[in-house]
Amino acid sequence: MFRSRILSLSGTIRDQNGRNGEGTMVGRVLTTLRARQEWRFFRALRRAAPAWAVAWWALVVLRGVVPAGVSVAFGWLVDAVDRGGSLAGPLTLTGVLFTVSMVLHPMHQLVSANLGSRMADHLYDRLMDATVEQPGLGHLERPELAADLAMARDFDLGMMGPPLSISMDFVANGLVQLVIGFAAGLLLFGFTWWAPFALLLAWGSTHWLLRESGVWKDRNTDEVRTAQRHADYSYRLAVDAGPGKELRLFGLAGWVIDRFVATRTRLYDLQFHATRLRERSVATCLAVVVVGNVVVFWAIARAATDGDLSTARVVVFVQAAIGVSALAFGGLNWALDGAAAPVAALERLEAAVAPAGALCPGGGSDRPSGAAELRFHDVSFAYDEGRAVLDGFDLTVPAGSSIAIVGVNGAGKTTLAKLLCRLYDPTGGRIEIDGVALTDLDPQAWRRHVTAVFQDFVRFEMSLRVNVAPAGAPDEVIRAALADAGASDLAGGDLDTVLSKGYPGGTDLSGGQWQRIALARALCAVRMGAGVLLLDEPTAQLDVRGEAEIFERVLAAARSTTTVLISHRFSTVRLADRICVMDAGRVVELGSHDELMELGGRYRALFELQASRFSLDAGGPAEPEYDEDGREVIRERL
Ligand SMILES: Nc1ncnc2c1ncn2[C@@H]1O[C@H](COP(=O)(O)OP(=O)(O)OP(=O)(O)O)[C@@H](O)[C@H]1O
Ligand SMILES: [Mg+2]
Repeated sequence: MFRSRILSLSGTIRDQNGRNGEGTMVGRVLTTLRARQEWRFFRALRRAAPAWAVAWWALVVLRGVVPAGVSVAFGWLVDAVDRGGSLAGPLTLTGVLFTVSMVLHPMHQLVSANLGSRMADHLYDRLMDATVEQPGLGHLERPELAADLAMARDFDLGMMGPPLSISMDFVANGLVQLVIGFAAGLLLFGFTWWAPFALLLAWGSTHWLLRESGVWKDRNTDEVRTAQRHADYSYRLAVDAGPGKELRLFGLAGWVIDRFVATRTRLYDLQFHATRLRERSVATCLAVVVVGNVVVFWAIARAATDGDLSTARVVVFVQAAIGVSALAFGGLNWALDGAAAPVAALERLEAAVAPAGALCPGGGSDRPSGAAELRFHDVSFAYDEGRAVLDGFDLTVPAGSSIAIVGVNGAGKTTLAKLLCRLYDPTGGRIEIDGVALTDLDPQAWRRHVTAVFQDFVRFEMSLRVNVAPAGAPDEVIRAALADAGASDLAGGDLDTVLSKGYPGGTDLSGGQWQRIALARALCAVRMGAGVLLLDEPTAQLDVRGEAEIFERVLAAARSTTTVLISHRFSTVRLADRICVMDAGRVVELGSHDELMELGGRYRALFELQASRFSLDAGGPAEPEYDEDGREVIRERL
């Protein structure tokens, strides 16, 4: 009868939807469940540490059923007293269950802490894989991924909530309460079938009625993300060494503290308003819970007075009725929301970084060998579909030659270098290496063939050896590269010295000394076989004497490579075979130093401006120049 009604109901749904309604409904419930961040959290927990997760769940169940066992033991005890029987059995059972409950809790705490740490490690591993393994760079720079990246990176630092090693205990206790509630409900079936349903409904409804208070639904709004970023930034401004100089010099300590307090308060305000208990929901909850409990307790009392229930059974059922209250809305909702949010953020990231950091799939040809010819064909590029940074850029750099690229700030020089390293693919046109499209080369193989000193090069807080040869090289090659970069004496010449003050025996370097290390890194790669050398402002922090001397040495060391030099220093630029002047994303002048000086265009203007500045710096005001009529020549400022 019941089955036929279900079948007819499913038939109605099937008719209404025009497809298999029963399957769709089950499928839909499962899909909704799987989409929930709590589901993803528990799934990740199982993947993070399977054995620990099983132990953790087993303890949840054990701790959850013990109170129901204690209720039964009490009932047995009362029954034994009533009948004047032996108390040994019920007292032993009560004692054993009590001891078990006392032992299980600290055990569960330990397992929770351990599992929480393993889960944090697992999430960090997945974040590292997701970020590092993409061949392109776009996923690390997309503004829409920044909030999830920050959440997945910082979730265990205790800034947004307790670390997982602590919050796992809150989650465990919340789940234990759930099991206690259901186990008590099962016991209550011994009284009557409807009582457990009445109480389960009453206490269960609190989750639905107070749901807005349990989950910080507004966590991902733009307002919250911005508030969070401001708060984090203020915090880092205050505690990091980098901004420390300016904070002190400009007397900004009070300002930064006020900013931190204001941004943090704003964040807490948003959180409070999103999760506070709403008065009307609380009143409705109270009404539902009171009605459900009054009905059940009244029924138990009535059955007892009618003589239908023994004292022992009254004791058991009253405890069970009270036990169902463990199902009420509470700590689990908050703890689980906080613990599961990073998993959801990480999974969103994992789905998004793959396309964002992807590059055009190419043929995967092998890398070229030796110095390569570089050819840019009508290349255009824009970050995030914004303004075009390169627009119809055409340039050929013959194999083994050197070219300097000059242009004003923001002209697109560094972008060009990044395209050549294939950190992004052009949005139009193509780059060819020895006649082969760069997109047809295997990115990893190509990157072993090209080396660079970037404008914002990395300063590894590691040994001198690692800084010069992160991928490894024989010591004699490292020392030769250091000599080429004029850095033989740095760190006492000891390759094992750590280049950071924060480590025993470590040392720090000046800006120019670090730049020499970055140069040595690129020159070491050249000695190890790289055929294309990119230098983006490689001498910006070097003193004038060091600059000329080092750049000549670099060119000599890179005789067998195709060298692209980006620089604002014209004394180094003029040493290149050819010079390309960039403006608005395209080539506006191209030729040797002498040719461009003769052309009398932009290059010459920039060169003379810098040369006159140097003569001012070197020997006071330059001699005034006069035209044929004896008037002083006023040079155009660019
Ligand atoms: N990661 C990025 N995302 C979005 N825009 C960017 C990014 N990097 C650079 N840009 C923009 O692209 C343009 C070109 O920047 P690029 O760094 O290539 O200039 P540049 O010629 O190297 O300048 P400089 O001489 O100051 O080093 C600039 O307008 C800059 O704002
Ligand atoms: Mg640049």
